[in-house]
Amino acid sequence: MSEAKRIDGKAAAAAIIARMKDAARRLADDAGVKPGLAVVIVGEDPASQVYVSSKARMAEECGFHSAKHVLSADTSESDLLALVARLNDDPSIHGILVQLPLPRQIDANAVIRAISPEKDVDGFHLLNVGLIGTGDAASAFVPCTPAGSMILIRDVLGSDLSGKHAVVVGRSNIVGKPMAQLLLAANATVTIAHSRTMDLPAICRMADILVAAVGRPQMIRGDWVKEGAVVVDVGINRIDAPERGEGKTRLVGDVAYEEAASRAAAITPVPGGVGPMTIAMLMANTLVSAHRAAGWDAPKF
Ligand code: GUN
Repeated sequence: MSEAKRIDGKAAAAAIIARMKDAARRLADDAGVKPGLAVVIVGEDPASQVYVSSKARMAEECGFHSAKHVLSADTSESDLLALVARLNDDPSIHGILVQLPLPRQIDANAVIRAISPEKDVDGFHLLNVGLIGTGDAASAFVPCTPAGSMILIRDVLGSDLSGKHAVVVGRSNIVGKPMAQLLLAANATVTIAHSRTMDLPAICRMADILVAAVGRPQMIRGDWVKEGAVVVDVGINRIDAPERGEGKTRLVGDVAYEEAASRAAAITPVPGGVGPMTIAMLMANTLVSAHRAAGWDAPKF
């Protein structure tokens, strides 16, 4: 058994970001449009805070206008909707991201529906979901994690997945369902598995492409992986790491990496796999939105 190729999401994201910086500069210099991203966070969930800060920081690094709105955990739905309405009307903003999950007094679906589809860089609005579901991903905003995962898969297997069986473990609106749609659009045969699936290990073992998006640390074991499969680990889980010292933690994916790497042909690590690509795709969607606002053809990534 040989060791799998480690798919370097950090390097892939860096290459995309370098191209984006050039495109953003051209758009600003020649069309006078600076891409603008607004990120909104409600409450103090520490993991969400880290994600939102890194999104805002990356937007600045790309030369975008970046606005971060931090609202208290007891914010009402109508106050959040009022902020979304203001951002919808703000011509300096091309992308709006409201970090999920939201506190329980706020209906996340109502908020997502209120975001203008033209600024929905998360790709969660019904219009964008519908465009992807009807095979028109090119004119939609595609959710960032599935979009980034598809680029990593394309880098290994090419863009036509005819004859491949893809198994997506997880059925969330953010990752599992859109991921399945994108794999289907690329001609893969797709199975969506989830917590109620019978004999999950056997289903996973059928996968030429295995996408893990369950949010349970190292749940997918090495003997669930078919020899030669491409494994994409979407999970980011913080676990205790006493071996690093008292009170220390580390990040792991949904896949037991070392075990799976001894069987897979290629596998994404955590950290440094899908995570950086998610942020790069958010920037790409914002850049595309700004191009559309300027009446320019959008770059493709
Ligand atoms: N929470 C976890 N992932 C995401 C994401 O991609 N977008 C938003 N808005 N919230 C999230």
